[in-house]
Amino acid sequence: MIDLVKNLAAVNRRTKTSVIRELLKLTNKSEIISFAGGLPDPQTFPSEVLAEIAADILRTDSRTALQYGPTEGLPELKDQIIRLLREDEGIIIKSENLLVTTASQQALELVGKTFIDSMDPILVELPSYIGGLQAFNAYGAKMIGVLGDDDGLRVDDLESKLQRLRDEEEHYKFVYIVPDFQNPSGVTLSEERRRKVVRLAEMYSVLVIEDSPYRAIRFEGKQPHMMFKLGRTGNVISTFTFSKTLAPSLRLGFVVAHEAIIRRMAILKQSMDLCTSSLNQLLAAEFLKRGFYKDHVAKLRRIYKVKKDAMLRALERHMPEGEGIQWTKPEGGLFLWVRLPAYMNADELFYEAVKENVAYVIGSAFHCDGSGRNTMRLNFSYPMEEQIEEGIRRLAKVVKANLQKKQGTRQPAVSR
Ligand SMILES: Cc1ncc(COP(=O)(O)O)c(C=O)c1O
Repeated sequence: MIDLVKNLAAVNRRTKTSVIRELLKLTNKSEIISFAGGLPDPQTFPSEVLAEIAADILRTDSRTALQYGPTEGLPELKDQIIRLLREDEGIIIKSENLLVTTASQQALELVGKTFIDSMDPILVELPSYIGGLQAFNAYGAKMIGVLGDDDGLRVDDLESKLQRLRDEEEHYKFVYIVPDFQNPSGVTLSEERRRKVVRLAEMYSVLVIEDSPYRAIRFEGKQPHMMFKLGRTGNVISTFTFSKTLAPSLRLGFVVAHEAIIRRMAILKQSMDLCTSSLNQLLAAEFLKRGFYKDHVAKLRRIYKVKKDAMLRALERHMPEGEGIQWTKPEGGLFLWVRLPAYMNADELFYEAVKENVAYVIGSAFHCDGSGRNTMRLNFSYPMEEQIEEGIRRLAKVVKANLQKKQGTRQPAVSR
C-alpha cells in the first residue's frame, strides 16, 4: 500500500472528515425524524415540466445540450439570469459580469482558489456555512470569526477586527457572509447593516462574498437590497444557486462580480470541470424562459412557510420555558437555530436525540473557533408537517431530561 501520509498534498492533510458526515451516519434509520439535512422537499421538484423540457431540448438542440460549452456558461442561461436579476433585484449586469458554476459550492471553491494563499486571514460569521469554511480551509485560510445577533453580522465587531488587523499591518482578503436566511441560523442581515458592511469593506479595501442560496425563498417581511447592489467599487462578489429553488442535482449556480474577477475565476474553473453541464444549463434556461420559475418559487415559499410555522408552533408548545432556551424566527429559507442554556452541550445531546429517533446538526460545527456548543440547527424544509410536530416533541423531551439532570445534580448540593 502506498504511504499516503508521505504522498498526500498539504490541502488533503489539512482537510478532516466532516463531523457532520460522521454524525449523520447514525441517523440513517427509517424511524428517525431528521431535522439535520439541508434538502429541499422532493415533493416540490417540478419533474413533469422538466421531463417535457428535457425531451424538447434533446429532440431539437442536442448538438448544444450534449456538447462541451463555454466555461463562462451558455448564453441561453446567462440571458435568463441577467433578466431575473434585472426584474427581481433591479441589478443591471452584462454577460461579462456572470459566471455559471457547477452550483454554489464550486463558486465558493473558486473564491478560495482565486483569493486565498495559505495563512491569509479571512473573516467569517459565527456561525457560518460549513461548506464555505471547508472550501476556504482547503486553501489554508486563517479564519477569524465575527459575532452576530438576530440582525446578522455585528458591524461593531467587524469594524474592530478590521482595524485590529490594519494595526498589525496585515490584510483580510474578504469577509464571507450568507446575508439572507443564513445557513445555519436562519437570520437575515438588516438593510442598515448591509450598507455599513459594504462601506466598511470599501474603507478597508476588503472583498465581500455574498453567498445567497435562499434569497428567493422569502415568506414574509421586507426584502433588503442585495449587497452587490449596494457596492460602489466592485468589491462585492455574489454567489447564487438553483439548488434550493429548482433542484440540487442540476448542480447549477452562478457568480455575479466585476468582469475582471469573473475573468480570473473563469480561467481557474477551466481546470476544475471545463464547463458546467450544458444539458442542465439549457434545462434551467428553458424553465425560466417558459415562465415556470417564478410560479415555482412562489409555491416553494407557500410550502416552506407552512412548515416553518409548524416548527415554531411545536417549539412553543414543547420546549421548556425559562432557562434561556431561544430560537430564531426566520422570514425565509430552510433553517432555524436553537440556543440552549450555556451549560448544555448539544454535541453530547445529539446521541441522546438519536436514541429518541430525532436528529439535528450540532451548532459547534458551524463555528470556526469551536464555540457554539449549546446550539443546534434545525431544518424544516425536508420533513413532513406531521413529522415536525412529533420530532420537536422528541427533541424537547431530550432537552427537558437534561434540564432535570442539571437540577438533579444541583439538589444534593443544596440538601447537604
Ligand atoms: C450558504 C450555502 N452556500 C452554498 C451552498 C452549496 O449549495 P450548492 O452547491 O448546492 O449550490 C449551500 C448548501 O446548502 C449553502 O447553504
